[in-house]
Amino acid sequence: MDQHLISTVNRLQDAFATLGPTTNPIDLPQITVVGSQSSGKSSVLENIVGRDFLPRGTGIVTRRPLVLQLTNVKAGYHKAPEGVTFKDGENADEWGEFLHNPGKKFYDFNEIRNEIVRETDAKTGKNAGISSQPINLRIYSPNVLTLTLVDLPGLTKVPVGDQPKDIERQIKEMVLKFITKPNAIILSVTAANTDLANSDGLKLAREVDPEGARTIGVLTKVDLMDQGTDVVDILAGRVIPLRYGYVPVINRGQKDIETHKSIKNALDFERKFFEEHPSYRAKAQYCGTPFLARKLNMILMHHIKTTLPDIKARIHSTLAKYQLELAQLGEDASLLGSPSNIILNIITELANEYRTILDGNSQDLSTN
Ligand code: GDP
Ligand code: NA
Ligand code: MG
Repeated sequence: MDQHLISTVNRLQDAFATLGPTTNPIDLPQITVVGSQSSGKSSVLENIVGRDFLPRGTGIVTRRPLVLQLTNVKAGYHKAPEGVTFKDGENADEWGEFLHNPGKKFYDFNEIRNEIVRETDAKTGKNAGISSQPINLRIYSPNVLTLTLVDLPGLTKVPVGDQPKDIERQIKEMVLKFITKPNAIILSVTAANTDLANSDGLKLAREVDPEGARTIGVLTKVDLMDQGTDVVDILAGRVIPLRYGYVPVINRGQKDIETHKSIKNALDFERKFFEEHPSYRAKAQYCGTPFLARKLNMILMHHIKTTLPDIKARIHSTLAKYQLELAQLGEDASLLGSPSNIILNIITELANEYRTILDGNSQDLSTN
């Protein structure tokens, strides 16, 4: 039922996204990644998804927000559309779809990356420009947990290429727009080989979440730390404590990207690293990407449950608004296919589904 709850939230997001960004009345929980440029944000997201599909690398690679909805689907359940043949490693159960190109299923994850690059360039030009207009991508797979993640451009100080002089302020504002929402869960990424006290991601997270109540710390590049140093003090909460704590991870380095090291090999390397390292081996089950993914799913679930009453109220007021609009239009049969009627139907259907889940959950919570 918990997976059902999250997929309903995802469908609500889709329904409201079709109304356009300004009319979206519901701020649903999302996990948003913040941190300095090249701290490893896109790499962390890609490892959570378990597929290669995000543009990554040194310099400013992520230049528009990417709203990424992961949807868990049953294996062996989907048929390939007619005319589709699969290359090695592709199958009918794993695909991506962009909101700007609805109905087109991308089975080739390299093509997903190309499409992100194309869409980024289309709005920002090729010369390092940025835009706050998000790209919406949904990924279906039996191998993902159902989660919504947002990848953002990294915090940077010095403009390059076509970037505006006030690039630092512009990116900061873009990031703040996503993480200020009280129901945003902030994944604050800091490279372990830099000083946590100077972490841009943590600084910005603290501006909107001073108690650290909805921030989770991720420490990347643990493999690049100087010999004899480790992040044990940070993990133990002795440096900058966060209620949800920190998870250390190891992503692929630039050389691994160039030699096309697979995610599977990268995850094997990560697991061995933590299991064998004298500083981490006693707590290896709390380290690495798989633990981070499980932790995120739990946090998201908890967050949705605590914000349900608020979301429910907003669904009802939106429903009322569209019902009124429709009543004013009258009962003209030619309006049956009108946009507001279609949207009303979607929302009514989802609200009903949501109510069932809500009732189920309140029983769950009260018996706990
Ligand atoms: P973003 O700008 O924060 O999205 O960072 P990217 O994910 O694009 O990564 C920036 C660079 O750091 C790339 O060259 C990655 O290969 C490298 N990188 C990221 N995480 C790690 C890590 O844990 N270990 C190593 N060795 N390199 C990493
Ligand atoms: Na980068
Ligand atoms: Mg990035």
